[in-house]
Amino acid sequence: MLYYQLPHTDLTVSRIALGCMRIADKSVDDVEKLIYAALDEGINFFDHADIYGAGKSEAVFGEVLQRHPELREKMIIQTKCAIVPGKRYDFSKEHIIKSVKASLDRLHTDYVDILLLHRPDALCDPKEVAEAFDELYDAGLVKYFGVSNHTPLQIELLQKYTKHPIIINQLQLSIVHSVMIDSGLNMNMKEAWAQDKDGGVLDYCRLKDITIQPWSVVQASWAEGTFLDNPDYQKLNDVMQELADEYHVTKSAIAIAWLLRHPACMQPIVGTTSPAHLKESSQACDVQLTRQQWYDLYLASEKPLP
Ligand SMILES: NC(=O)c1ccc[n+]([C@@H]2O[C@H](COP(=O)([O-])OP(=O)(O)OC[C@H]3O[C@@H](n4cnc5c(N)ncnc54)[C@H](OP(=O)(O)O)[C@@H]3O)[C@@H](O)[C@H]2O)c1
Repeated sequence: MLYYQLPHTDLTVSRIALGCMRIADKSVDDVEKLIYAALDEGINFFDHADIYGAGKSEAVFGEVLQRHPELREKMIIQTKCAIVPGKRYDFSKEHIIKSVKASLDRLHTDYVDILLLHRPDALCDPKEVAEAFDELYDAGLVKYFGVSNHTPLQIELLQKYTKHPIIINQLQLSIVHSVMIDSGLNMNMKEAWAQDKDGGVLDYCRLKDITIQPWSVVQASWAEGTFLDNPDYQKLNDVMQELADEYHVTKSAIAIAWLLRHPACMQPIVGTTSPAHLKESSQACDVQLTRQQWYDLYLASEKPLP
């Protein structure tokens, strides 16, 4: 495993994190095995959200922590709040604080290391968010704060009012879903690839030392599922397989190595529920793709260079 110090923090984190969105329906024994597999691979970072499995993901993870309280100090736990599924996004102070307290109860922990605002709220009042952050920090419930799916200006607005640095922006990014890379490569071209849909979020996060956490790293989309072994992505699978053979790893490791190769020092969140898949994914840390191999993968996902 590779590690790095999260900018603006005293946290040393694994370059690969385990996403816990899909563990909701797993048994406590299965989640225990997954957590031990992660720790054995050197993964010390666990990503949650209040809404994963309507709270069940945090709850089953918390049951493992209840069985093994000694594991807590080996973990960096991040959770998210502010989505009320199907109803609204909610950055009100009341909702943020209530959500964090409920997450802490489910997780059986006194604090989370990092809290992210899950999706931008159209009714965001940054002063109110700042008050919520202060209250959570002062009570020792949250150490650091970040966001997910936010544009640069949305982050700037929050940062204007809060004294806590926004340290993370969790964003969808994979070889297949690479909108933030496509627009930079195709700058000022007429084609759709050139559309800046995120306000230059990749370069902004690099400028501000905000860590990008790519999510859905082997997913084509919600509807299509994974692009691994997916016949709709044959060319990409062929190139991934060639590289997997060369580096003696699996295609999933190559897909994650593609993200690690980017000099922005991203922290991919892998969402597998299988200890075996997690072990394979971790091998991404042993792969250093060449510049050409990185571009070969990009082009194999049927995207053009201008
Ligand atoms: N901030 C946001 O808005 C947001 C949105 C979505 C997700 N997330 C976070 O990102 C994490 C990952 O998201 P995700 O689960 O959609 O993405 P993912 O890691 O790309 O996809 C997981 C899917 O791919 C399969 N898979 C993973 N590794 C594999 C491997 N080595 N071989 C074969 N299949 C493999 C998994 O099945 P198996 O379980 O069978 O391996 C699972 O069905 C979530 O847990 C969550 O923490 C954040």
